[in-house]
Amino acid sequence: VIEVPVDLGARGYRVSVGRGARHLLADELGALPGVRQAAVVTQPALAAAGWVEGLQAGVPVEVVLVGEAEADKSLAALSEVCRRFAVAGLTRHDVVVALGGGLVSDLAGFAAATFHRGMRYVNVPTTLLAQVDAGVGGKTGVNLPEGKNLVGAFWQPAAVLCDTELLETLPEREWASGRGEMAKYAFLGSGPPDASLLDLPIEEQVARCVAIKAAVVGEDETESGRRMVLNYGHTLAHALEAEGLSGSTTRDLRHGEAVAVGLVFAAMLARRLGRIGEDRVALHRRVVEGFGLDPRLPVDADPDRLVGLMGRDKKAHHDLTFVLDGGDGVEVVHGVEAGDVLATLKEMEGAR
Ligand code: GLY
Repeated sequence: VIEVPVDLGARGYRVSVGRGARHLLADELGALPGVRQAAVVTQPALAAAGWVEGLQAGVPVEVVLVGEAEADKSLAALSEVCRRFAVAGLTRHDVVVALGGGLVSDLAGFAAATFHRGMRYVNVPTTLLAQVDAGVGGKTGVNLPEGKNLVGAFWQPAAVLCDTELLETLPEREWASGRGEMAKYAFLGSGPPDASLLDLPIEEQVARCVAIKAAVVGEDETESGRRMVLNYGHTLAHALEAEGLSGSTTRDLRHGEAVAVGLVFAAMLARRLGRIGEDRVALHRRVVEGFGLDPRLPVDADPDRLVGLMGRDKKAHHDLTFVLDGGDGVEVVHGVEAGDVLATLKEMEGAR
């Protein structure tokens, strides 16, 4: 098992990555003072696959099932989960275990942040995407009809167990989605960006991404600045996903697949703004393709609609804000003109 520390002082914790890492749960809970029971929040498919029974918590466990759809990450679901905690008699000294993908850790983490005004939780992320992103860093929350993740809290887990054995049954599209986030980290690490990460054992791959994320979160826990670089490629990605959610015809991209397109878009936008050259754009394409992803704008994407949706992204302030590559690496850039964004999307549209 590889251990990656997240250095946040009193709120710091350890991410354990490796095959069978979930079996460390009893030790982790044993190290938390006063825990008498645990609520395992998970989804029906994961419970049916036997993962809940296989979790040895070392204390009595209450299993709380939540839905599988993005619409299930709601205030109504939060209320349901907290009511289950109340009926089970969970005290503020007990612990929540989030077993699932980002939806589960966002919802269960937010329940932990608010039930009894805050209790401890442990993430056991079950997808590659959640192991390299949502499971680490303490962003929790739920969606509103008006937008994703609009209600939430920064609330750090007490520990994270990234068990790579859980990935062995992951469908290929879910692997691809995780690799989209990995491609992002290729541009946030210290070395030259490439896809050589994939040559390493899976535990190493996950641990290296977690280490990059941990360093950024350690510097800026509440996203007052630097943490925004973790959204590299995400502004267009969120718009592409919103198109899918609103029932338009945009092909149903997984999150990481949308990020892959967003990374190449961000590079093309950076070139249009004179921040980087064509060689660097080509590098983005090579890295994204190296991670096995399609860098092209989906055929049915509508540039005008996408610009409108990007303006509504919650990370945007008054003008459009992007995370862009440049001479000093990837950084936050405010005040990008919508016209440049539209022109870049049209350029991508023409190239596909
Ligand atoms: N997923 C981006 C972040 O955690 O900041």
